[in-house]
Amino acid sequence: MKKDRILVTGGTGYIGSHTVVELQKAGYPVVIIDNLSNSNRDVLDGIERISGTRPDFVEADCTDIDALRKLFADYPGIKGIINFAASKAVGESVQKPLLYYRNNLNTLMNLLDLMGPNGVKGIVFSSSCTVYGEPDENPVTEKSPIKKATSPYGNTKQISEEIITDVINSGAPFKSVILRYFNPVGAHPSAEIGELPNGVPQNLVPYLTQAAMGIRNELSVFGNDYNTPDGSCIRDYINVVDLAKAHVLAVERMLDDASEEKIEIFNLGTGLGTSVLELIGAFERSTGVKVPHKIVGRREGDIEKVWADPTIANTVLGWKAESSLDETMRSAWAWQCKLRERGIM
Ligand code: UFG
Repeated sequence: MKKDRILVTGGTGYIGSHTVVELQKAGYPVVIIDNLSNSNRDVLDGIERISGTRPDFVEADCTDIDALRKLFADYPGIKGIINFAASKAVGESVQKPLLYYRNNLNTLMNLLDLMGPNGVKGIVFSSSCTVYGEPDENPVTEKSPIKKATSPYGNTKQISEEIITDVINSGAPFKSVILRYFNPVGAHPSAEIGELPNGVPQNLVPYLTQAAMGIRNELSVFGNDYNTPDGSCIRDYINVVDLAKAHVLAVERMLDDASEEKIEIFNLGTGLGTSVLELIGAFERSTGVKVPHKIVGRREGDIEKVWADPTIANTVLGWKAESSLDETMRSAWAWQCKLRERGIM
């Protein structure tokens, strides 16, 4: 049976591109909208090389409601939306809060506005474990308290969750699945797509692979005096392809009306906490490549430790993180090597 068309906003980005591949593998026709502010057109070639299908692509900004209206007119029959389009650099959000509030919130509100009139059944929203702040207890469940956001970026995720909830509670004729990602890392095993940070990477794994490649002198480990077994911070690193697969299940759940609930929230993580030093060890062990690194002071605003209880995603969504950390590190390295081969990095 022919499947319904899915709109993926931010579909040429890191998590978006991996999700487009999985949607196409599951038989969904996809239209991407992306303003290419943090990605580029070549990603479409990578997606096509993996899946054999080139997704439809509209270069436009989701804060432009007229562009979105045109998209719905040009691509009829969109039944689901996955909203990745957002600015996501924590530090930059502190410097440019209005950019973050404008991009992230206007995008979401435009989409919510247009869903009803266009007969869209549901929206999957990319949220983050950042909503839990520094948790009182680990692992965190979906019922763990939401803590005051420590950056405008984090605040946009909290406010977005509230906007979705209010709109749906007002009787809007659609559903939503809110996915709270832990730390997405790695790349597609084909090394055709992966993360391509702009400038100096702010996140651990892209910095680590660039340091291993010699593009950066050494990785700075931000603090070894935390209250953790080796003193470095602990996160739940989730393979990006595993993460992408959860989106397909979320879309299916909304389109099949598999649940009575109009809003559902799922933590997407492995359930395992890994420290920064352990992650470096896993990378070195699995690739045989050394990571030059040094311990430096703490980074302001960092959470000491957070990892997921993914039980609800496991049991209700039927999703489980499958890749090992070693496999994921190998995929991150293969992607870095591919970037070098292509002369990009
Ligand atoms: N880290 C280093 N050195 C680096 C970069 C990071 O030691 O050069 C450490 C951090 O201190 C932290 C861990 O690696 O302990 C992970 O840091 P990331 O920056 O990769 O990710 P965060 O856990 O800080 O997550 C933040 C936000 C998320 C957001 C994510 C991606 O909390 O909501 O960045 O932007 F999704």
